[in-house]
Amino acid sequence: MSFNIAIDGPAGAGKSTIAKRAARELSFIYVDTGAMYRAIALGLMRSGTDIEDEEALRQALEQTDVTISYENGVQQVWLNGQNVSDMIRTEAVSSMTSAIAAKPQVRAKLTGLQRGLAERENVLMDGRDIGTMILPHAQLKIYLTASVQTRAGRRYRELAERGEQCSLEEIAREIETRDYRDMHRETAPLKQAEDAVLIDSSEMTIEEVTDRIVQLARMRMA
Ligand code: DC
Repeated sequence: MSFNIAIDGPAGAGKSTIAKRAARELSFIYVDTGAMYRAIALGLMRSGTDIEDEEALRQALEQTDVTISYENGVQQVWLNGQNVSDMIRTEAVSSMTSAIAAKPQVRAKLTGLQRGLAERENVLMDGRDIGTMILPHAQLKIYLTASVQTRAGRRYRELAERGEQCSLEEIAREIETRDYRDMHRETAPLKQAEDAVLIDSSEMTIEEVTDRIVQLARMRMA
């Protein structure tokens, strides 16, 4: 049987950086589910779909094919045959993703893909509803969070490094808006699973958080 690790938490808590490192140390496959939602958002932006129109959304989703592959251990996400891994990281896509991720039709589309991966392989999967909905039987669940201030600061530095213009206050506001939406949506809201280990990374380094997760995983695998 495969060993599954679920990491959930709000945007900017460091999930993907830490999950990538921990997966590498454990020789697990890292599955970034946010990238799958982002690819769908990009597809819906491109087709100009009115996401409030259920029938239009259903039709658009039928024509949206999202798959993932791995290149040197790094996840690549494909939208209708095009590798969109780099195009899905803009603030515009982030904001659209948060809106479309609230739609049950969108979530249903990705559930099978995510569960299928976890059945076949030892995965470390990060997202918002992995421990609560997608992999309720995961052998290790982590809820990784950090203060809004810390998360906004991290996102600001990331965007600045990429040369994108941004203001710290605006990013903090966007993070709060996204948190609210992700935590209060009806379908699969972001919340800590009862059996998840809570880690607040505000005062911890990436290495400290990674070590803690790897240590917990090794203990549970033993
Ligand atoms: O983790 P991320 O920033 O790439 O996620 C982008 C958006 O997708 C975020 O608003 C939450 C949503 N998401 C989700 O609803 N469920 C997941 N399993 C992963 C991401």
